[in-house]
Amino acid sequence: MSIELTQVVKTFQTAGNAYTALKGIDLKIGHGEFVAIVGKSGSGKSTLINMITGIDTPTSGSVTVGGVDVTRMRRSHLAQWRGRNLGIIFQFFQLLPTLTLLENVMLPMDFCNMYSSKERRSRGLALLEQVGMAEHAHKMPGMVSGGQQQRVAIARSLANDPPIIVADEPTGSLDSKTADAIFRLFERLVESGKTVVMVTHDNDLAKKVRRSVIVADGEIVNQYVLQALPNLDVDMLTQLQPVLVQRQFAPGEVIIRAGDEGDQAYIITKGVVEVFLPVPSGDDIHVATLREGQYFGEIALVRGGPRTATVRASEQEGVELMAIGREAFGGMLSGSALTQEEMNEVIRVRLEELSRMRGDGHGASS
Ligand SMILES: Nc1ncnc2c1ncn2[C@@H]1O[C@H](COP(=O)(O)OP(=O)(O)OP(=O)(O)O)[C@@H](O)[C@H]1O
Ligand SMILES: [Mg+2]
Repeated sequence: MSIELTQVVKTFQTAGNAYTALKGIDLKIGHGEFVAIVGKSGSGKSTLINMITGIDTPTSGSVTVGGVDVTRMRRSHLAQWRGRNLGIIFQFFQLLPTLTLLENVMLPMDFCNMYSSKERRSRGLALLEQVGMAEHAHKMPGMVSGGQQQRVAIARSLANDPPIIVADEPTGSLDSKTADAIFRLFERLVESGKTVVMVTHDNDLAKKVRRSVIVADGEIVNQYVLQALPNLDVDMLTQLQPVLVQRQFAPGEVIIRAGDEGDQAYIITKGVVEVFLPVPSGDDIHVATLREGQYFGEIALVRGGPRTATVRASEQEGVELMAIGREAFGGMLSGSALTQEEMNEVIRVRLEELSRMRGDGHGASS
């Protein structure tokens, strides 16, 4: 089952104030994917998760899960549908205090009328076993620790064998050893074909997941921005997000011109650009083709001086770029030594290539 959010906006109205927690989220999660959702506190991760589970509704935009439009489902139907299709682990675990741990795990099966009553019990015990809580099956939630309750909540989320598991900080209150065990459980679930969406503050965990989605200030950081700047941490990406300006260029349009002053660098987020070395008399020399996840325009910002090359959108299709101004660019580099180092290396290679081309272009050796 896949998940698709299109232009999801969520505005909360509180005491005369409006606060937009999600600012037009586009997100596709394919069947069988394991996705980590990362971001600073207050960035909108839980709000985003609540859109997927239908626990909250967007102010505008659409959310489909397994082809079903969650925002249009009747509430009575929604609860049953959710119970069968989604395993939800809440950020603040919510076991019912008056039921035993086993009864808590059996509750979704009862509610959705899944499995026979005998099976419910053995299934519940097996699930508790999986999270290392079987020996406490008959205790009340209040008699075990917060981390243990969290493990039971994880077992409960798997009760109806749902195709999608949505977990909001599932390992937040667990020690690192238990957190690792839970993470491995999620990995096994993904291997068995389930889709897992996991919010986490834990960078080490997030790094182990193939795909990380970073939420910054109610927006998702473009994946190609992440690819272009892999050494920026969540804090730096959060600072960068509001200063990135999306720009579009038509096929063949000049984006930067050799010799001009430059005050912006660009990350390619859609399409292809061609880099040329202008030749005073004759045709420009084609130097390179750059694609999504690559940047250009950085040399003039790092080294000073005019643009060293001309960059055009490909003749075939237009391109979409994220532009970064000089000041934000400088701030980013001074905040990340690794990014600076990596970029210096890219610049070194690019300048070498340009001077080689320049030599070739005039038939002279340099
Ligand atoms: N029901 C609500 N009413 C008003 N504002 C809300 C509501 N829920 C969330 N917000 C606001 O929306 C923003 C995003 O909240 P959200 O809970 O999604 O953040 P989060 O990324 O999950 O943070 P954390 O990492 O601390 O769990 C916050 O500024 C929060 O105060
Ligand atoms: Mg949260």
